[in-house]
Amino acid sequence: FHVDMDASETDKGTYPFYMLKEIDEQPNVMRRLAQVYLSETGEPVISDKLLNSMKQADRIYIVGAGTSYHAGLVGKRLFENLTQTPTEVHISSEFAYEQPILSKKPFFIFLSQSGETADSREVLVNVNAGGHESLTITNVQNSTLSREATYTLLLHAGPEIAVASTKAYTAQIAIEAILAKALGEADNQIVAQRFDVRHQLGLVATGIQAIVDEKKKLEDLAKSSFLKTPNAFYIGRGIDWSVSLEAALKLKEISYVQAEGFASGELKHGTIALIEKGTPVIGLITQEKTAGLTRSNLQETMARGAHIITIVSESLAKPGDDIILPDVDELMSPLLSVVPTQLIAYYTSLNKGLDVDRPRNLAKSVTVE
Ligand code: G6P
Repeated sequence: FHVDMDASETDKGTYPFYMLKEIDEQPNVMRRLAQVYLSETGEPVISDKLLNSMKQADRIYIVGAGTSYHAGLVGKRLFENLTQTPTEVHISSEFAYEQPILSKKPFFIFLSQSGETADSREVLVNVNAGGHESLTITNVQNSTLSREATYTLLLHAGPEIAVASTKAYTAQIAIEAILAKALGEADNQIVAQRFDVRHQLGLVATGIQAIVDEKKKLEDLAKSSFLKTPNAFYIGRGIDWSVSLEAALKLKEISYVQAEGFASGELKHGTIALIEKGTPVIGLITQEKTAGLTRSNLQETMARGAHIITIVSESLAKPGDDIILPDVDELMSPLLSVVPTQLIAYYTSLNKGLDVDRPRNLAKSVTVE
């Protein structure tokens, strides 16, 4: 399969900033990944060699930095649910110098949009020296992390130019879902057999499209609730917590709002002291078993003056919720719930008059440790 890169991929077209273009491209990236990595009948097309290596592993170690690390946190949930393989996620700069105790048969997954992040490269050097097998999931063919790992899967997201990563995050999660499905099936896991990844990616593509089509609503929300605030909190449990970290990172990176992603049940153990009148607290609610709990945590912050905003899957929605997400399998929910948070960050930055694509102090690819 050959994916051509045409001029439109590096051209902003009518978009004021690359970031908005890249957010809008996400439905197409989801469809492209289904084309590249799934057969006509919807089965994952992943090499037997890679699957056999992964099948032998007793533990998966996912390594990444920044947004890629956050995509790894979601990956852990996918691998553990669909393959029953214990999965750890590590920040590359930490792993490089404080290597965790490894299992007998570890398998490493490197997540990196650029394939060049120095901290991740340092880990891979050690992994190779230990004689372990690895997979790099990257957007850049022939990048260092791709060349030095045993296997590579490409993100096929097209060039990502804005410093704040958007489509690479969703592409990484989509590939993790496909890979987890393939590995789980190869291991006769019933949950994996029942997980219709093609159908899900179709729902995700349509769902993201519906969200980006309503971007005006998110711009209004950004203007009314985020322009003046010095800080904000995203909260959630489980996979929603994982997404809350990425949501907060977006707001920090380009809007310069001090933001934190928080496990909602942990707020009351300290952080709730920071809530003042008008502090935005955004609840991510996509998991049935924790929806009620997160809602009560939101109520607790509201009682202390917080301005609460909800991002909720349709089947869990209640009157008064702010942003409603189309329903998908709960494991795929990050692919939708992250999109409004990308747009909130984008419009906050835009309406503050900041350079959305080139935020201060940041680089697209960090090649120093
Ligand atoms: C930089 C970028 C982030 C990115 C991180 C990891 O800090 O500003 O957006 O998430 O590097 O980059 P990678 O290319 O390894 O995914």
